[in-house]
Amino acid sequence: MARKTTAFVCQECGAAHPKWAGRCDACGGWNCLVEEQAPESAPKGLGAKKGRKIDFVGLKGNEKQAPRRQSGIAEFDRVIGGGLVPGSATLVGGDPGIGKSTVLMQVTAALSGGLRCAYISGEEAIDQLRLRAQRLGLADAPVALASATSVRDIVATIDDGDGPDVVVIDSIQCMYVDTLDSAPGTVAQVRTSAQELIRVAKRRGMALILVGHVTKEGMIAGPRVLEHMVDTVLYFEGDQSHQFRILRAVKNRFGPAAEIGVFEMTEAGLQEVANPSALFLADHHGEVSGASVFAGIEGSRPVLVEIQSLIAPSALATPRRAVVGWDSGRLAMLMAVLETRCGLALGNSEVYLNVAGGLKIAEPAADLAVAAALVSSVKGVPVPAETVVFGEVGLSGEVRAVSQIEARLKEAEKLGFTRAIVPKATTKKGGSRPSFGAKMNVTEIDHLDGLLALFSGGDASPAQAEWKRHG
Ligand code: TYD
Ligand code: MG
Repeated sequence: MARKTTAFVCQECGAAHPKWAGRCDACGGWNCLVEEQAPESAPKGLGAKKGRKIDFVGLKGNEKQAPRRQSGIAEFDRVIGGGLVPGSATLVGGDPGIGKSTVLMQVTAALSGGLRCAYISGEEAIDQLRLRAQRLGLADAPVALASATSVRDIVATIDDGDGPDVVVIDSIQCMYVDTLDSAPGTVAQVRTSAQELIRVAKRRGMALILVGHVTKEGMIAGPRVLEHMVDTVLYFEGDQSHQFRILRAVKNRFGPAAEIGVFEMTEAGLQEVANPSALFLADHHGEVSGASVFAGIEGSRPVLVEIQSLIAPSALATPRRAVVGWDSGRLAMLMAVLETRCGLALGNSEVYLNVAGGLKIAEPAADLAVAAALVSSVKGVPVPAETVVFGEVGLSGEVRAVSQIEARLKEAEKLGFTRAIVPKATTKKGGSRPSFGAKMNVTEIDHLDGLLALFSGGDASPAQAEWKRHG
């Protein structure tokens, strides 16, 4: 009888080790090795058996595109690329309690008008699910509910003549395949369960939605391999203390990635937010030092957010730096540039940076807005009211052009902003400035020095004089 072999598999990255260790060699994670059945040993080459010849075809075919299934919840439909694709697998990740089950119940209920929808939960009992549906006012929607965790049972149920068109599995970490010894939630179980479910979904042309938990590092628990197996990966993010929730596409084989949908958590579930800028700026109080408004682009939409900074003297040898909603490495870089290239002394101060509203910004275009907030905080001079800022900052302090300037300024104009600080060289070569911001007072700068000049005392600098005149 063959001896059953086991391996120690890292729960973070999926690497297999022959021996237990406190630290995974592959990803450096601590305490994440769990004994699991060893993956099947690799086949020993191809051998002598000859394969069948495969046929090549052209790029153009005459298959009709299956229509996308729109839920009518516009924020969700846009993030998914215009509606759910039949035969696709979507992974929805997010912190516990962020609202994954809620949004998916709303989506299935909305789809159930024209499609057969099944919602299978391994985490909650039927009563709990019904209670939520009642709270959301969806108790009458014809969604088929079930509480199950065995993948064998689920596959037998949905792989049926009149199986559902849309299946939600909440969550993939609860599911298990009985041929494996390891516990649900381990890498082997998550991978095999997802594989089996995706296979059925592809064969039957049903849209499969898997819910995945996120580890404290912010990755979907289990191996990254889950992200490779599905067609679309959505992250549901937000701050538990804010009511805004952001659904972000990080991978999409059927549409643009980086698209976001904004929701607000209310008593009656998640409500769509059609105009996120207005929401993010709701608490913005004009002229306060240390705050600036960034005109960003999220996916295909311009979004305005407030960036707040606070600089306080520190008695510590290494002053505290804390960032919410932006990359701390990027902040360190920007501070170094401000110190070295512009002589702004920040070294002995505590620096706090916050992107209001719970949005996470990844765009380099936010550099200049962050710099404006920092400089304004150091100098104690507010950025004038109704001003938006954007631009990328390079290591020598130069301000670089960014994309979609017109869209950013249009959004700002729409929300009543009258001034903008933007990178130079935004005028087209040889031609006049594009038609944006006709009513806007646009200040172009090509170096951070130009930004500092706007904040320096007195009206000595021509840039500031001009800025004041328009103000
Ligand atoms: P849930 O969808 O269960 O989160 P997840 O599946 O991501 O773990 O959401 C739970 C939270 O949402 C909970 O803290 C309560 C809140 N909530 C509301 O505020 N309003 C509602 O109508 C519902 C259903 C939930
Ligand atoms: Mg849940």
